[in-house]
Amino acid sequence: MLKKLGGLLRRGKKEDTEKPGTSDADTVSATEAGVAEALLAFEDELKINYRIIKSYPVNDPWSRIMILEERDTGRTLYYVDEIKMTEEERKAYEAIQNILMWEMEPPPEGVDIVKYFERQAKKAISKYRVRFGDTVHPGISWGKIEYYILRDNLGYGPLDPIMRDPLVEDISCDGIGKPIYVWHQEYESMPTNIRFTSEKELDSMILKLAHKAGKHVSIAFPIVDAILPEGHRLAATYRREVTTSGSTFTIRKFRDKPLSVIDLVRSGTINSKLASYFWILMEHNKTGMIMGVTGSGKTTMLNALATLLRPTLKVVTIEDTPELKLTLENWVQLVSRPSYGFETGVSEVTLYDLVRVSLRYRPDILIVGEVRGEEAKVLFQAIATGHGGLSTIHAEDVDSMVKRLTSPPMDIPRGYIPLLNFALAVKRVRQTNPDGSFTVVRRVTNVWEIEDYGSYRTLSYWNPSRNKHEVDLEKSMLLARIAEEEGKTLEELLEEAKRRETIIKWMGLVGKTDYREVSKVIHEYYVKPSKVYNEARRVLSKYEAFT
Ligand SMILES: Nc1ncnc2c1ncn2[C@@H]1O[C@H](COP(=O)(O)OP(=O)(O)OP(=O)(O)O)[C@@H](O)[C@H]1O
Ligand SMILES: [Mg+2]
Repeated sequence: MLKKLGGLLRRGKKEDTEKPGTSDADTVSATEAGVAEALLAFEDELKINYRIIKSYPVNDPWSRIMILEERDTGRTLYYVDEIKMTEEERKAYEAIQNILMWEMEPPPEGVDIVKYFERQAKKAISKYRVRFGDTVHPGISWGKIEYYILRDNLGYGPLDPIMRDPLVEDISCDGIGKPIYVWHQEYESMPTNIRFTSEKELDSMILKLAHKAGKHVSIAFPIVDAILPEGHRLAATYRREVTTSGSTFTIRKFRDKPLSVIDLVRSGTINSKLASYFWILMEHNKTGMIMGVTGSGKTTMLNALATLLRPTLKVVTIEDTPELKLTLENWVQLVSRPSYGFETGVSEVTLYDLVRVSLRYRPDILIVGEVRGEEAKVLFQAIATGHGGLSTIHAEDVDSMVKRLTSPPMDIPRGYIPLLNFALAVKRVRQTNPDGSFTVVRRVTNVWEIEDYGSYRTLSYWNPSRNKHEVDLEKSMLLARIAEEEGKTLEELLEEAKRRETIIKWMGLVGKTDYREVSKVIHEYYVKPSKVYNEARRVLSKYEAFT
């Protein structure tokens, strides 16, 4: 561990960041002296062609983001406005960087490496400043130098402002000379003003990303699929081994706190009636499949549904990358492992292997992050033998989902399809605002109950013109089945759904949105339903009396 940091930093010197901070990653940012001046510079340079539609700091006062709209075309641009170093500042930066690379001692055992580096960096800067500040570098911004030292050694270098932007979901680089693209929560896909113009710089960034994820990438092993320390998912290719335009990468940002079912209701992805319906299905271990295209919000929905499960259940989750975050105590999280040819004796562990072994854990519920191959078969076998199951799949609607499931490589026998109880589709849809601009929102566009192979009942659909989920629980085959199993009438179960709807509305109203808080209420409701319901009703009726 001690040597690791020294080695890591030195390695960084040689391979990753030959000239850190003198980045060839080309930003159009024009400012020299501060964020306020940046705006002036921006106005001078770009106001003819662009207007600012949104602006917010990501690392105040050093960097901020501006969303620009091209006046002629209406196209949006993601503009990273980062304070720039002067020539003089750059020289000081490089000198300090050298001191750190070659003179820093490895941290003592047990010390947090990041904090240790931060302290050492600050120390080196202030020592250097005392020695040369007034003579060699008068009048420079030492805060700015510290920003760049930390950005390039602990952070993500030129990508750091984007990595810090909570509104960015995806960052991708398609090769040298091409702008980095982001997927922005409000404005969808956009080019940025950042691009890597030299192969060396881009290759260094790939090495840096791979190192950060604790993985190896080289000409011999030019593909990396890994998790960055903050949980972000990284996929990258190295040099021109498998791509024509040089190294590439894509980063799917990971949300520290998953969106809760209440967040999903508040943002209109589902409504409270649908949430209460899913809550009843989850209580009764019903099996379901969440479908959508890449980045539509499948995993997010899966996580939100899983928090509705009874807390006493044994749940095993199986994923390629650990994205799920549950609040259940009896939860085993299994993650597959790719094989690396260079690591002798380390074999690949596939989703299929994990799904098979998971049955030994006797789970009540088996959750597979996403089905693509033969693991689907084992999942269906598990469901057939009485386990509950949830998963996601890349598909647009229930017919294409069933077609995928029943074709190679999944090859699920048609007779197994009705073992799935429900399926839902989640989509990213554009909504036009009154001023003509648009916002991207997520909607569960359809919920189907599966009666048989080829027979799917639409329980709910999203009506785009009314921006409304049309839900008819009275027609629910699954609720009728659950009522029968419970020895209740459908009316009684619908009453129960209404009670849960009240609780969901209450949580939304009082801002109980954090996934841990939400599960606390859900778990409490399983034990003391009347107490929770009465509290919810009391608050809601008070609120209704006022409005
Ligand atoms: N309902 C939602 N409202 C707002 N943001 C959402 C919603 N669902 C998902 N997101 C955001 O969209 C991004 C992608 O979500 P998610 O990982 O759930 O998609 P996915 O369909 O599982 O993607 P993939 O196909 O790559 O596995 C994440 O940044 C997530 O926070
Ligand atoms: Mg996913």
